[in-house]
Amino acid sequence: MKEKLLKIKEDALKQIEGSDALEMLNDVRINFLGKKGALTAVLKSMKDVAPEDRPKVGQLVNETRAEIEKVLDDAMKKMERIKREAQMKMEVIDVTLPARKNNVGHRHPNFIAMEEVERIFIGMGYEVVEGPEIETDYYNFEALNIPADHPAKDEQDTFYIHGDILLRTQTSGTQVHVMERGKLPIRMIAPGRVFRSDEVDATHSPSFHQIEGLVIDKRITFADLKGTLAEFAKELFGASTRVKFRPHHFNFTEPSAEMDVSCFKCGGTGCRFCKGSGWIEILGCGMVHPNVLRMSNIDPEEYTGFAFGMGLERIALLKYEIDDMRLLYENDIRFLKQF
Ligand code: DAH
Repeated sequence: MKEKLLKIKEDALKQIEGSDALEMLNDVRINFLGKKGALTAVLKSMKDVAPEDRPKVGQLVNETRAEIEKVLDDAMKKMERIKREAQMKMEVIDVTLPARKNNVGHRHPNFIAMEEVERIFIGMGYEVVEGPEIETDYYNFEALNIPADHPAKDEQDTFYIHGDILLRTQTSGTQVHVMERGKLPIRMIAPGRVFRSDEVDATHSPSFHQIEGLVIDKRITFADLKGTLAEFAKELFGASTRVKFRPHHFNFTEPSAEMDVSCFKCGGTGCRFCKGSGWIEILGCGMVHPNVLRMSNIDPEEYTGFAFGMGLERIALLKYEIDDMRLLYENDIRFLKQF
């Protein structure tokens, strides 16, 4: 029995020594110490050993087992260490490599232009308000003195959702919402998205943005309108900017005008940018029509006001000298990064 155990131990140690992988060592463990292993077989054959010899043999088996286990564990630990060291060598991190750049987004040119306009009007004491993009016919047309047969109401121009509900074609409806709040005086601008049934080209899009303005107080005159918008133009396009008002027609203002600014590229002498005229059109404006005031429960005998509306994209295109509106919506990072 003793020789048999010695032989088992020798075999086991030899196999351990000959192993060059963790899997092989694992096999050794199974072959010698496992349930069906050589040492377990010896234990099972104890019944053939004379009873008085059993404790001795049992002790011998246990000692053999302990020895094999110890050698096996040491070998496994060593093998694991070698494996880990090899792996670490393979996975060295070169801390001197340049870091991967994180792309941080930034404001869209439209948004930069909007914040600029907001900044100027906030500086003049205006409040910034938001109106709904989905409107009823009443706010988008009727309350703005636009009659039922007006061409702007045509389905060719306006996106209708159903019945009287539509996507606003202008931010002017926000004037009505603010007047309905019943708090006077009013000094507000309302930036926001508007929708028109237009085809996409260099200057049109079915969805774009406007900034509306409304001032209502006692004794507001066209002089206030002129002074305010001239100041705004100087802030936005530079101190030497001049403004010019051309008569126009809007249903919700009377009188109405369009405002041009002197070309900030050539100073007004005429260039490619202003198409030779020296002037660039930037907004519509006028004195709020008495009908509009009355419909929103404001007495036109007591209060007067002016309003204006401009296209935000147009301002952004002018300010950044972009010649195609589509560039603003294509989300090409190479383009957007420039602003
Ligand atoms: N809502 C007009 C448009 O979409 C722009 C406009 C013109 C707004 C004159 C106004 C205004 O408030 O007084 O063309």
